[in-house]
This record gives sequence, structure tokens and C-alpha cells, in this order.
Amino acid sequence: MNPLREVLCSRCGNPAAIYLRYARLNFCKEHFLDYILGRVENTVRRYRMIRSGSRILAAISGGKDSSTMLLTLSKLTGKLDFDLVALHIDLGIDGYSSEARSIAEEVCRITGVRYAILDLEDLVGLNIPELSRKIRRPPCSVCGAVKRYLLNLAGVEVGVDTVALGHHLDDLAVYIVKNFLLQNLEDIRKLGPKTEGYDGFLVGRIRPLYEVYERDTALYASFVGIPYQSMECPLHSMGVEDRIRTFLDGMEEDSPGFKIAFLRSIARSIPKYPQPQSEVRRCSLCGMPSQSGICSFCRMTMRALGKPLGLELRGKVREIVSKL
Ligand code: AMP
Ligand code: FES
Ligand code: ZN
Ligand code: ZN
Repeated sequence: MNPLREVLCSRCGNPAAIYLRYARLNFCKEHFLDYILGRVENTVRRYRMIRSGSRILAAISGGKDSSTMLLTLSKLTGKLDFDLVALHIDLGIDGYSSEARSIAEEVCRITGVRYAILDLEDLVGLNIPELSRKIRRPPCSVCGAVKRYLLNLAGVEVGVDTVALGHHLDDLAVYIVKNFLLQNLEDIRKLGPKTEGYDGFLVGRIRPLYEVYERDTALYASFVGIPYQSMECPLHSMGVEDRIRTFLDGMEEDSPGFKIAFLRSIARSIPKYPQPQSEVRRCSLCGMPSQSGICSFCRMTMRALGKPLGLELRGKVREIVSKL
């Protein structure tokens, strides 16, 4: 190929802004945005994520992934016939959470999606670092448990069919490989494109970016011009995930599209992975899902504050999300 020849968009023939190796396509900005929107729509259809007439609660962190998810989903509400609302959780992490919150609010305003904020310090009286210190558990694991609990609780109280999460292809591939290496096979089931809800107290989850690369979420957000938080959480520490990511990035480099093929075969194989041994039960204190009779949120707050807060929180969260 003549090195001086300009690279052109595969759709319109104008100068290209980006080359997607996995698709072997060049795009101008406009057609890149169309292409990613199409990928999200195809992913939603392929895995039957959204039923016509349903209501979806999008979990928005302020980062590029969930913002791109909100942008693309908000463009599909009419075509796929669903209602979209959003939720952000302010985790109270110094030097991080206030920026995340204001960006999440701005993205919701730009997309015109109704949203609510749950502020952990207002609800519990403690932020993530304080809660983690009090119960002597690593902040990331406390944070994960708190987010899962509050997202599910908000979903139940809003009465939505599904919670939409912004996990992209690259992160999901890492979590799946990690769980495989540790032989946590039941957890691989939870990392598919969607998980089903249960009996009115466990809301189903979907991942509309299941087949979208992390790099594309960043490009999408910046081509559209919406703000997103680029700072990493200061509590993040290097772990086995980073090594797995480097390995998988190498596979993708050698064989573009490898991660898509991997996630598609995982989605097909999920029914073969073992189901949790015990049925999902209700926490005897707050009624939310639990594996052992008392949920992890009630346990954590009992240890940190001397009383379980789950039940009390339900009323407060119901009031906050009632505007949605
Ligand atoms: P993470 O667990 O931080 O990798 O985030 C995975 C997904 O959880 C994000 O893409 C969001 O959909 C959701 N999420 C993470 N943090 C928040 C937050 N503070 N508020 C609401 N949703 C969140
Ligand atoms: Fe949860 Fe960093 S965002 S610990
Ligand atoms: Zn074009
Ligand atoms: Zn509970």
C-alpha cells in the first residue's frame, strides 16, 4: 500500500480517525459512533437482555464504561421499547468520589436520564475507608459488597426488571480467567452477559458492553464529548488481575478478536458451569439475598456499628429512589 495514501472510513470514504484491528475496519468519528452503538444493540439482542416494555436501572460510576453504556442505552430506548433510569453510589472515598459523583450527575443530565444518588455516609454514617478499617476487611472487597447490596436494593425498591452494569469485554475476560484459575466455577456463571433475578428480592443484571472493548468505551465517550473520570480509585492495588490482563492483551495482540471469541464461547458454556449448591435465601434481618441466612451487608454493619442496618436502609433507599 502507498504509505502516503490517506486511510479512509470503510463506510463513507472520508478520512478515517480510527482503525479497529478486531473488525479490520477504518472509521471516521461519526461512523465509529454508529458502529459501537450497533455493537451494543446487537449484544443486547443476541443475549436477549431487554424485554419490550421493561424498566432498566443503569449503574453509573462516573467512569468511561458506564457513561458509554448510559449514552448508548439512552439512544436505544425507543427502538427497543424500554424505560431507562440511573443510579450513582457516592462511596465517600477522599479525592475520588466527589469528582465521580459530579461527573455521573452531569452525564445523566446530558443524556436526559432520570437519576438518583445514594450517599453511603448519609445512609450508614461511614464511608468505604472507615467501614473497611472498622471491620478489618480490604476496602475493595467491602466496596464490592456494598455496591452489590445497594444496587440490588435500589433495583428492588424502584421495581425495575434489571440492573445494567458497565463491565466491558476486557474486565470480564480477566475476571473469568481469574475465577477459572482459582476454580471458583460457580462465580463464572455470574459473569455472563446476563443473570436472572429471583422472586422479587434479587434483581437480574445485564452487561450491555459484554462485547465492547475498553478502548472503544473511552473513544466513544471522548468522541461524543461527555466527561468521564480518568483517575483510578486510589484504593486500587496491583493484583493477580493485572497479570492476567497483560497475558490476555498479548493474546489479543497476536490474534485480534480473541477476547470476543473467548467471551462468546463462555456465554455458550455458562449452562455447563455448576450452579450454587444452596438456593438463594432471604436475609432474616432485611429480606435481601443471602447465602447463609444473614446478608453480608447486615453482617458488616453489625460489626462496624453494633447493629445491622439493612432493614432501616430499605425505607431510606425507597424514599430516595421514589422520584425515579
Ligand atoms: P467496578 O466494580 O468498579 O469495576 O464497576 C463495575 C460496574 O459497577 C460499573 O461499570 C458500574 O456499572 C457499576 N458501578 C461501579 N461503581 C459504581 C458507583 N459508585 N455507583 C453506581 N454504579 C457503580
Ligand atoms: Fe471501590 Fe475503589 S471504587 S474500593
Ligand atoms: Zn465515515
Ligand atoms: Zn440483611
